[in-house]
Amino acid sequence: MLGREHAAALLESGATVVLTDISHASLMAARAVLAAYADTARIKIAIMDVSSRASIAEVAERFVTEKLRIDVLVNNAAIDPKVNAEAIVETSRLENFSIEQWELQVAVGLTGAFLCSQVFGSLMAADGKGGVILNIASDLSVFAPDQRLYRKDGLSPEQQPVKPVTYSVIKAGLIGLTRYLATYWADVGVRSNALSPGGVYNGQDDKFVTRLTSLIPLGRMATAEEYRGAVQFLCSDASAYMNGQNIIMDGGRSAL
Ligand SMILES: NC(=O)c1ccc[n+]([C@@H]2O[C@H](COP(=O)([O-])OP(=O)(O)OC[C@H]3O[C@@H](n4cnc5c(N)ncnc54)[C@H](O)[C@@H]3O)[C@@H](O)[C@H]2O)c1
Repeated sequence: MLGREHAAALLESGATVVLTDISHASLMAARAVLAAYADTARIKIAIMDVSSRASIAEVAERFVTEKLRIDVLVNNAAIDPKVNAEAIVETSRLENFSIEQWELQVAVGLTGAFLCSQVFGSLMAADGKGGVILNIASDLSVFAPDQRLYRKDGLSPEQQPVKPVTYSVIKAGLIGLTRYLATYWADVGVRSNALSPGGVYNGQDDKFVTRLTSLIPLGRMATAEEYRGAVQFLCSDASAYMNGQNIIMDGGRSAL
């Protein structure tokens, strides 16, 4: 959902964008929506698995062949599995959380950002023209999930769904990666920052929305479009002197 918004923001700024995803159908759908913002010649697509260095390198190779310079990398991909409230044993809970889910989610959300930064950041750094790496974290990069938000009526404590441990670990890890990259390539003009969105309203159930918005001073969840301005700022020279920072856009929740 947010990947399209980031692309729309960059298209509005005049960039040519390359949408990447593991799903061809998602890429086609995103391109169709984004055609409202720019000529499709400025909207390229590439199937890419961020958890596979070979897949990323293949896409990077294509850019080199097409003489397409990458100025900005947005690390946005993540896996946020839907909670199965019917389960007898709730698999999102720490006690039951499987090593397979841990490895899969970390591979996409954290290792994926490292691998993409390694491949595309190295290209940006190599020709001396610099660039920008933007890591999409979350307000949960700076505070813990409030697990009361996810409670469902009629379930025993062991069946209550929770925000999984991977989410906190991945998002906090992305802030560490952001800072590391910010100093690593500073001398060649590759800046790295993070954007930490708060929850976007996407038809979540009323109880959840009421509980969450009671924790947000602005009194509402975000709309998907509301992060566009920050993406434009962080990916342009408007933020030329910002490096290694995490912009938290959470309606004021972390200010409480
Ligand atoms: N939606 C929110 O409320 C919210 C809030 C804070 C942070 N975020 C963060 O923003 C980002 C986008 O969130 P979203 O809600 O749009 O999520 P989403 O699930 O709609 O999009 C994630 C995308 O990642 C892709 N993906 C999964 N595995 C991949 C892989 N191996 N290689 C390449 N692509 C892969 C999926 O196909 C999907 O298109 C995530 O990092 C998320 O954690 C979202």
